[in-house]
Amino acid sequence: VLLLAACGDGGQDGAQAPQAAGTPIRVATESAYPPFVSVDTTGTLVGFDMDVVREICRRLDQRCDIIPQSWDGIIPGLLADRYDAITGGMTVTGERRRVVAFTRPYVSTPLRFFAPAGRVPEGLEGGPALITLDTLDAEEQAALDRIAKALAGRSVGVQSGTTAAEFADTRLAPGATVRRYDTHENLVLDLATGRLDVGLADSVVVEPYLASEEGKDTTVAGPAIEGGPVGEGIGIAVRQGDVELRQQLDGALAAMQADGTLRALAVKWFGA
Ligand code: ARG
Repeated sequence: VLLLAACGDGGQDGAQAPQAAGTPIRVATESAYPPFVSVDTTGTLVGFDMDVVREICRRLDQRCDIIPQSWDGIIPGLLADRYDAITGGMTVTGERRRVVAFTRPYVSTPLRFFAPAGRVPEGLEGGPALITLDTLDAEEQAALDRIAKALAGRSVGVQSGTTAAEFADTRLAPGATVRRYDTHENLVLDLATGRLDVGLADSVVVEPYLASEEGKDTTVAGPAIEGGPVGEGIGIAVRQGDVELRQQLDGALAAMQADGTLRALAVKWFGA
């Protein structure tokens, strides 16, 4: 996992809505997306983003309330003021920037296809290792065309409301049948039991799953995909008007990057 050295553009302006001292920061997440976030056997929310958020709040000397939500609808809930921030493997994209503001990105991940080993659709493999959508060259365009062809007539599973869903809808449908899942967990279950041909999700979520006992019969397939409408940087989303909160989060993240805390958490949760 590459930690991004560059700051997020942070250029959004708007009315200040300062976080009153002592008022908890309400942070929404969808809790079945390990290693970013999951629920452990004791019912505790754990994961990279949980450690990041707890450490930010410790540094800001603020209480943080973690509020589990479904992923689809997590942005409308932020805009409706039901909580103040969104975390949980939240990708920074231009489309989302039109409605929310983001902290600096602190992890980078492309999307990856994954499928049961031995049932990888023919034609999905090969071509460049990485396709960057905002700077497509001829080879990448050809690979995209080949992928769409390979997946025509197949089912592709994505979690609703994700960048993977955005890619599948715009680049694979209607040739491929896009199946939407409320959680990544349910997608993985359908893939394991053969009810789904291919899954698409963040590489840093897919890779540890393949390395686990559960995922040992699953393999990644085809090029990784990033940039443009699917982004690649993971950040924390806040309302555009909450400039002070975003600055506070960014300040803590910058310090955590500078002193090696983010690096240590990435090693702990992603192994890199
Ligand atoms: N990175 C993708 C996105 O931002 C998927 C995130 C899914 N997160 C989750 N907690 N289920 O759309």
